[in-house]
Amino acid sequence: MSRLRDALIRPVIFVVAILTIQTIDVVSWPAKARQAPAEGKSEAANTEKLLADGDCRSCHAPDRKVVGPSYSDIARRYAAQADAVAKLARSIRQGGSGNWGNVSMTPHPDLKDEQLAQIVAWILSLKDAQPAPTPPIQAEVKQYKYTLNSGKTVALDFQVFVEGSDKKVAKDIFRGYQIYNSYCYRCHGTDATTSELAPDLRRFTEAGTTPQDFLSVAMAGREEKGMPSWAGFLSEEDVRQIYRYVKGRSLELVPTGRPPSEYD
Ligand code: HEC
Ligand code: HEC
Repeated sequence: MSRLRDALIRPVIFVVAILTIQTIDVVSWPAKARQAPAEGKSEAANTEKLLADGDCRSCHAPDRKVVGPSYSDIARRYAAQADAVAKLARSIRQGGSGNWGNVSMTPHPDLKDEQLAQIVAWILSLKDAQPAPTPPIQAEVKQYKYTLNSGKTVALDFQVFVEGSDKKVAKDIFRGYQIYNSYCYRCHGTDATTSELAPDLRRFTEAGTTPQDFLSVAMAGREEKGMPSWAGFLSEEDVRQIYRYVKGRSLELVPTGRPPSEYD
């Protein structure tokens, strides 16, 4: 009996072992290939990977402002300064605000000196990069009009409902609902309602604040007040989707609970 079982199980274990080895191999090989810089692979590509792996890209882009200034604007400001490398390396390590506005960069104490030097050299090399074309002026941005419960009509620069429906929410809103109710609800209340722990985010999307303000607080956080920084964990796109969901909730266009969507 036990022989028969052994005979049946052994090959299974063997197959599983083979599969595991193969899986590990398949997974680790490209990673290794990426880590060990192949000959001829440029330092710039390595640095871009360093920037992409860290939290930098939640707040910076080469050619446009995100939460922090564009890398090319930073390069243009500092390229001619003799102490630029040391100064920028210090800024990245310590974080802080005041050079570009009042939003703070989070500190990066774990980056090594050589990594900082490499990153700063890459940023400064963008000094001659062309600035991104200016975004379309307001009139060219597509507007979506919706009637609120009060009878008032609002015009938004993003879509709340899928075309031809006033119930099924657009993909961005649905993703915003999912991300919000995975990470933000704990403190800000389920479905962006109210909570004792943190402010009602619907208020923050009303007049006086912009999507940019929302993005800045979400990425930089206010650690001393209990609001975590989401840089490195959430992308700019994720936070914009959360904003759209919360804005839809504040206008009462989007209901509480799982909103009907094109996936239904
Ligand atoms: C939470 C958002 C955020 C993250 C994450 C972030 N930055 Fe920043 N960064 C900013 C802001 C905001 C500023 C402008 C600060 C100021 O006004 O002094 C800034 C400024 C800078 C500057 C200019 C500093 C100066 O002294 O003028 C550099 C260089 C920079 N960031 C590089 C990086 C790099 C590299 C990373 C990743 C290792 C990174 N940043 C991650 C938001 C961020
Ligand atoms: C661990 C609790 C916690 C979590 C989780 C959390 N927040 Fe917060 N958040 C806070 C607190 C506390 C404040 C108020 C900080 C203050 O007093 O300035 C805040 C403030 C904010 C503000 C500014 C609101 C205002 O009225 O000034 C925004 C925007 C925000 N959070 C976005 C988010 C987003 C987006 C998420 C999910 C990705 C999130 N928060 C998750 C605790 C949290």
